[in-house]
Amino acid sequence: MKGILLAGGTGSRLYPMTKTVSKQLLPVYDKPMVYYPLSTLLSLGISEILIITTPRDREAFTSLLGDGSQLGCSFSYAVQPKPKGLAEAFLIGADFIGNDSVALILGDNLFYGSAIQKQSPSKADFSGGLIFGTPVQNPKRYGIVELDPDGEVKSIEEKPNHPKSNLAIPGLYFFDHTVVEMATQVKPSARGELEITDIHNTYWKADKLGVTILEQGTAWLDTGTVQSLSKAHAFVEAIQSRQGVLVGSPELAAYQQGFINLSQLKTLAKSYKDAEYGNYLKQWINEQ
Ligand code: DAU
Repeated sequence: MKGILLAGGTGSRLYPMTKTVSKQLLPVYDKPMVYYPLSTLLSLGISEILIITTPRDREAFTSLLGDGSQLGCSFSYAVQPKPKGLAEAFLIGADFIGNDSVALILGDNLFYGSAIQKQSPSKADFSGGLIFGTPVQNPKRYGIVELDPDGEVKSIEEKPNHPKSNLAIPGLYFFDHTVVEMATQVKPSARGELEITDIHNTYWKADKLGVTILEQGTAWLDTGTVQSLSKAHAFVEAIQSRQGVLVGSPELAAYQQGFINLSQLKTLAKSYKDAEYGNYLKQWINEQ
């Protein structure tokens, strides 16, 4: 399975912070936002990743993340000239996906907890589509899935004015390679975007969509507004300082997946010099 990390968009809800800097490069506590979704993909055992950015920010991402070889991975880059919607990721990434299945993660979504690994599809024989659902208090802001009492999908809507459920669809989706063909059929919505929920609906109508409710204990935060970004800072700080656990570290995820060995991890930790992030990594290594 391959991974696409979608890190384009204007970030206009975070102006003026994002006037000259990509939203996904803003800090969430002690590391750039993109570290979190990247480490989620790595923790799922995905090492071949396409990172989609705006043309303006491509160089900054490349200089931050490189070609992935330092993490035993392969990172490639593509640009999305205009934010035409999440489903465009599959058109931009068509050649990259080829005949493989793909996990798409949004660059401003932060997942915490180990259950996500066991709830994600097994990579070898994955076909169809799989999305998650998780209860939220403000369902008008998200893609929403409605389930019947047997857990079967009844409807999927993007940011409904009258939500039929409070189950939001977080920004981590799994599809087989037919998603590319499906994405070519998606038409722009009223707000002019190729909606990811249209892809979900296409899989659902073809009877190929699974919906898994995120286990309690998995935290999902999106960082698209000033308030949610500030809550994400507080969340990461609380977990790291109280539990002494580094959240959202691509280096740790790469080590835990066996993409790099302990001596490579030590070298990476040293490269952060005296930064708190590096100190956490060194402390973790010492505890092993
Ligand atoms: O966070 C989960 C939600 O993400 C889902 O529940 C919704 O179904 C989905 O549409 C999406 O809603 P948002 O309103 O949060 O999407 P937003 O426009 O903020 O974009 C999400 C991320 O994707 C953000 O990091 C910017 C990036 N993006 C967005 C668009 C529209 C792109 O890279 N390219 C784009 O064209």
